[in-house]
Amino acid sequence: MKYYVMTLFPEMVSEGLHTSILGRAMDAGIISLETVNIRDYSEDKHRHVDDYPYGGGAGMVMAPGPIARTYDAILEKRNKPDRPRVIYLTPWGKVFKQEDAKELAKEDDLVFLCGHYEGVDERVLEEIVTDYYSIGDYVLSGGELPAMVMIDAISRMVPGVLTNEESGDAESFENSLLEYPQYTRPEEWNGRTVPEVLLSGNHKKIAEWRTERSIDRTMQYRPELMEQAVLDKKAGKYYKERLKNSEE
Ligand code: ADE
Repeated sequence: MKYYVMTLFPEMVSEGLHTSILGRAMDAGIISLETVNIRDYSEDKHRHVDDYPYGGGAGMVMAPGPIARTYDAILEKRNKPDRPRVIYLTPWGKVFKQEDAKELAKEDDLVFLCGHYEGVDERVLEEIVTDYYSIGDYVLSGGELPAMVMIDAISRMVPGVLTNEESGDAESFENSLLEYPQYTRPEEWNGRTVPEVLLSGNHKKIAEWRTERSIDRTMQYRPELMEQAVLDKKAGKYYKERLKNSEE
């Protein structure tokens, strides 16, 4: 997987992503990241990339020219006959979910366009963008953080990025349940002990306990996810009991 990120803040993106699991995957050549500075494609002597909005109003709008030239430079570097998917990050886009991460991970390369100021001239969006994504219902100052969020989540779905041990975690979101609580040493900390069952060595009991805690958490924090939850017979029974108790 190769990512190209069109941005005014290339260091923010490359430095932010070159750590931990993604850093390891980049060093191993499984994924690669190329940031392209939109400002380098300004033809203005002051390297401006924005201008006043037609029709008036507050803030500045990113001009189409520098973005289109940045995109052309990427096409040239990429040197393939087809057009890549180009993702624009915006609060009005489709809300990004785990299933989107999985689907986008199948692409060979992805281009991200990070906007700033009050927005981007609509015409260049029409010309190059294929997908509009939001990472949630709040407004951020620019597209860099959302692009980084998406690149992290997508990369985890690219084969070879996670070790076998790590991919177990990803799978647990697959059944739409939230993670169960985790504990490590010491066995007693600040007067709080680790749940007995986790020390028992009984793997079946531990798995059941974890599923039940996942159900508890999901019911408490994201009850709407329970509709799509995939539960085995025993977990289904536990969920029904909990529902019944909460109705009483
Ligand atoms: N740009 C500004 N806010 C955003 C959001 N919530 N998601 C994606 N892009 C954005």
